[in-house]
Amino acid sequence: MRHIAIIGTGYVGLVSGSGISDFGHKVICADIAGEKIKMLQAGKMPIYEPGLDELVDRNIKAERLSFSTDVGKTIRDSEVIFISVSTPQSENGEADISAVKAVAKIIGKNLNERKVICTKSTVPIGTGKIVSEIINENKSTETDFEYVSNPEFLREGSAVKDFLWPDRVVIGAESEWAFEIMKDVYRPLYINETPIVHTTVETAELIKYASNAFLSLKISYINEISALCEKVGADVHVVAKAMGSDGRISPKFLHPGPGFGGSCFPKDTSALVSMAQNKNVPMRTIQAAIETNAHQKKRMVKKLQALTGDFSGLTIGILGLAFKSKTDDVRESASLEMVGSLLKAGAQVKAYDPEANTSFAEFYPQITYCKTWEEAVKDTDAVAVMTEWNEFRTMDAKTLKNLMKSPIILDTRNILSRKELQKNGFSFDNVGRPMETK
Ligand code: UGA
Repeated sequence: MRHIAIIGTGYVGLVSGSGISDFGHKVICADIAGEKIKMLQAGKMPIYEPGLDELVDRNIKAERLSFSTDVGKTIRDSEVIFISVSTPQSENGEADISAVKAVAKIIGKNLNERKVICTKSTVPIGTGKIVSEIINENKSTETDFEYVSNPEFLREGSAVKDFLWPDRVVIGAESEWAFEIMKDVYRPLYINETPIVHTTVETAELIKYASNAFLSLKISYINEISALCEKVGADVHVVAKAMGSDGRISPKFLHPGPGFGGSCFPKDTSALVSMAQNKNVPMRTIQAAIETNAHQKKRMVKKLQALTGDFSGLTIGILGLAFKSKTDDVRESASLEMVGSLLKAGAQVKAYDPEANTSFAEFYPQITYCKTWEEAVKDTDAVAVMTEWNEFRTMDAKTLKNLMKSPIILDTRNILSRKELQKNGFSFDNVGRPMETK
C-alpha cells in the first residue's frame, strides 16, 4: 500500500483519487477550496459523475480515502503526489499552467523525503521541466524527487469506468525507481494486463494531446461527411458504420452531432496548434478540425432557422444544455451557441436539461428553465434536441405534437425516430440523414 496525495479535487483529481484508493492505497485528496472539501467530507459530491458517489463512499468507509485543505501536510505525508489542478485555456490558446506552478511551489517547500511528483492534468509539452525547476528552486533541503507524467484519458459521464478499466496507462518516467512506484500504484491494472506504456516525460505529455486532437479530428470529419450526406441523399450512420467496420478506422467517435464541446477537446486542440506553431510546425489537420467544429455549431442554428424562418418573436424549446449526456458540464456546449443566437435574433427560449440547468444559468440567466421536457416544449414554435439524454430518446412524437404550438423539431443528435415524426406531421431536420424514411 502506498501513501498518495492528490492535489486538486476537480473531475480528474476526484475520480483519480477515489479510483486509486479503490486499488487499495491510502489517498488524501487536498484542495485549497475549503467549501468543496467540506462538502466532500460530508459525503456530498461537488460534481455529477455516475458512480462517483459510491466509489468515494466505499473508500471513505474503508478508511483509504480522506480529504484535506492542508495541502502542505498532505504532501509531507505522501510518497506519490499527483498534480490534478485545472489548466484552463488562456487568451492565446495555450493552456494556462499557473495553478500547476503554484502547486509545484508548495511541493518544493514541503519536500521532506524522496517522492514521485506526477502530473495528471493536461499540461503543455515541456511542463515537466518547468515543474521540476520550480520544485528545485523552492526546496530547502537536498532531498531528491522524480518527475512523472501520467496523463488521464477520462471521459466525463464515464470517468469512473474509464479509470478503473482503462484502455492503457501512460507513464512518462525517466527513472526505473519512479516507474516501479507508479506501476505499483496501478498494480491491479498491471496484474489484469492493461497495457502500461513506459516512456519519457515529453512523449507522455504529447500522447495526451495527440489522442484528444485525433478524436476531435474524427468527429469533425464525420460532421463534414454528414453535410455532404445531406446534399447527396446518403445516410451518415450507414457510412460511419461501414467505415468503422474497417479495423484501421474503428467505429468509435464517428457519431455526427452539433459539434464537439466540453472542457477538453476545444481547449486541447487549440493548445496543440499553438504549441506546434511555437515550434514552427504547422498543425493543418487540427486547425481544420477546429474550424469545422465552429462551423458545425453555426450550421445547427442555420438548420433550425431553415425550419422556422426568422427567429424574432418565436418561442423555442431547447432540450439538453450539457455538452453531452451524463454530465452537468456546459462548457463549450453546442447549446451555448444555439441559445446565444436565438436570443440575439429576438426569440424566447425555454430550456430543460436533467442535470445542467444550473450550470447553464451562469451563462444565460435570462431564459426560462423547466423541470421536465414536457414543460420545456409546451406552447413552443419549435424545439431543438441538443444533448443525447436517454429521456429524450423515448419522447413520444404524438405527445410532443400535442404540447407544441407548431410541430417543428431539429434533432442535432439523431436520436428521434424520423418515421414517428413523419407520421405525426412534423417538419424536422437532423444531421446527415435523409428526411424520407423507406
Ligand atoms: C475527452 C476524451 O474522450 C477523454 O479520453 C479525455 O480524457 C478527456 O477528453 C480529457 O481530456 O480530459 P470528454 O470531453 O469528457 O472526454 O468527452 P467525450 O465523450 O470525448 O466527448 C467530447 C465531445 O465530443 C462531446 O461534445 C461529444 O458530444 C462529442 N462527440 C463524441 C461527438 O460529437 N461524436 C462522437 O462520436 C463522440
